[in-house]
Amino acid sequence: MPLLGWNSVLLMSTVAANTTMRNRVSYDQLIDETMTIVRSCTTPHAAADAFLLAGECEEFFQRSLVNDLPVVLISQSKSTAFEVSTLGKYSHTQHPVTQSFRKLGQFVVVASTLPLLRLLLQRTKTSGWGKFEGLHILIDRKTVERGCVNARGFLWTAWQYDRLAAIFLCVDSAEGIVLYTYNPYSSTAPAVWRNVGQFRGRGGHPWTLLRMKYHGGSRTCEGLTFDKTKDLNGYEVRMNAIEFEPHLRIDSTKTGLQRFSGDNGEILKIVFEKLNASVRVRVYNGTVYDLGGIDSHGSMVGMMADLATGEVDMGMNARSLHNTWKIEHTYPHGDGGFCVITRRAGELSEFVKILSFLSPSVHVVIGVLFTIALLVLAKHQGFLRSSVNIVRFMTFGSIHRLPRRSSFRIFFSSMFVLHVIFNSLIQGHLASLLTIPVSLPNIRTAENLKRSGYQIYGSMFHERELQDPELRSRFHVDTYHGCKQRVLESGRAACLDDCLHQYARIQNDSVLHRSRKIQQNLLVYVTKENWPLLASVTQIVHRTVEAGIATLWKEASTRKMYRARKRRWTNRKRKFRNLEIRHVLFSFYMLATGLFVATVTFAVEMIVAQR
Ligand SMILES: *[C@@H]1O[C@H](CO)[C@@H](O)[C@H](O)[C@H]1NC(C)=O
Ligand SMILES: *[C@@H]1O[C@H](CO)[C@@H](O)[C@H](O)[C@H]1NC(C)=O
Ligand SMILES: *[C@@H]1O[C@H](CO)[C@@H](O)[C@H](O)[C@H]1NC(C)=O
Repeated sequence: MPLLGWNSVLLMSTVAANTTMRNRVSYDQLIDETMTIVRSCTTPHAAADAFLLAGECEEFFQRSLVNDLPVVLISQSKSTAFEVSTLGKYSHTQHPVTQSFRKLGQFVVVASTLPLLRLLLQRTKTSGWGKFEGLHILIDRKTVERGCVNARGFLWTAWQYDRLAAIFLCVDSAEGIVLYTYNPYSSTAPAVWRNVGQFRGRGGHPWTLLRMKYHGGSRTCEGLTFDKTKDLNGYEVRMNAIEFEPHLRIDSTKTGLQRFSGDNGEILKIVFEKLNASVRVRVYNGTVYDLGGIDSHGSMVGMMADLATGEVDMGMNARSLHNTWKIEHTYPHGDGGFCVITRRAGELSEFVKILSFLSPSVHVVIGVLFTIALLVLAKHQGFLRSSVNIVRFMTFGSIHRLPRRSSFRIFFSSMFVLHVIFNSLIQGHLASLLTIPVSLPNIRTAENLKRSGYQIYGSMFHERELQDPELRSRFHVDTYHGCKQRVLESGRAACLDDCLHQYARIQNDSVLHRSRKIQQNLLVYVTKENWPLLASVTQIVHRTVEAGIATLWKEASTRKMYRARKRRWTNRKRKFRNLEIRHVLFSFYMLATGLFVATVTFAVEMIVAQR
């Protein structure tokens, strides 16, 4: 084997040869075994044929260990954060950078000092290659001299950079190659790992250092990586929350997670009970607009800022899916939507109702008939008398002196019969109509809203989420209370927000009306970037949704509201059956008008008769 000869030359010519004589294991052997791990212990998500090499890694190239693998190199000295190196038989044409630009799942980071390790971890994070869940193999460049003293320091640094799957490889003078890892949550680990110490971790939570002798051969990958998030053993997850009816209710008289109810809260209660985590919640007092997002200057504000800075791990309020930088989110677990509230258009006035009882054609027919009758009678009786007779017809007054000629009498009687029919029709309609209030059309759909030309108000974060360009062009930013106030003050304003929240908001408000869904949104929980628990939380949320529990909680939290609506509806329906005075008021006006016209007619007749 030509490789063996090259190795022996290296062995003789380097300082490593001297150290081998003192220790049973050389640094070269250590990196050989590192490559064995990289090649054989790929996690299912990782790309098996590529890895990322960072730091003081000259030996990897000297020993031609990476000849056949595409490697992304991150050096400690160069100002460019990384360079792509496709060595050996892979050429650039076979592996164009764009194609291999994907998140790598395996990292080998070699550093001789802690500051250098931090620099390298930071660079892998910002380079775009960094898949923080990937397996990180950390190596102390001076391990042959120092042994394993840096195990805790290196692994603690990895934890500071949220690299949960990290392994520290070192050379122990007694045992040979040794692996270290850590579990920041509990001391649970496969049996091959030995607990070698517990330290104070984040928030005083025990941080366990684990150690295993490297076996090699068929046992190389045994228990190397394991799910550390299975049991969090009371590890504290930091969240923020704000009351958001009906999705998240906060009862300040209770303590712990029991304070929170509503579907958002119940789902997370299940998640964190399953993970056995404890939860600290930063509760905000303000309005739901404090949920926050990206402001006009492009910076994170509100409760979202807590996540962007990493002060909080996760938001307890579900939000609509809207990708932003610095923030990650769980798998969508439901759907919500935007609705607008507008002023109720009110009811049709009684006068308009009476005019619209009969179709316009019937009105025309009546008019034509009366005109003909008037003309016919005028020929016989003179205009004044016949018009008085026509008024009598219309007001149902008694008939004063019928025409003497029988042909006119027959005409007159037939008109009278016709009028009786019309009148009964009108009376019948009147009775039915007065018991039914007819409401004018409200803004119900997105189409209505577009056609109406109403101005739309809401939080500045809604503007970004509103998809329809026309609606967006009519959008104005306002405060939470200002938004509703605009609607109360103007008949041409609409206030945009989450559908169920809008419903809860106007429950007891009879002047406002809520539309149907204007836009559908997917609901997610937002988390901070590179949160090691994201995968586990997402998985449990997903399972909760699949089991139908999420839907169940959502129904439970809205049931109360819908029940109240049903009660109000039945009350309103009951009210319709008892006719109120205001419903029949118009008929009194009509009666008064009729009496007035009759009085005037009578007076005129008296005067006419006296002459
Ligand atoms: C080998 O190690 C010994 C003892 O540490 C040292 O005195 C000697 O100079 C080393 N030789 C080389 C060639 O580095
Ligand atoms: C959950 O965490 C507590 C510590 O907060 C621990 O005592 C308990 O054993 C854990 N439960 C399970 C099932 O792991
Ligand atoms: C929230 O309200 C509580 C009492 O209702 C009050 O003690 C607390 O100071 C308020 N917090 C903020 C940030 O306004």
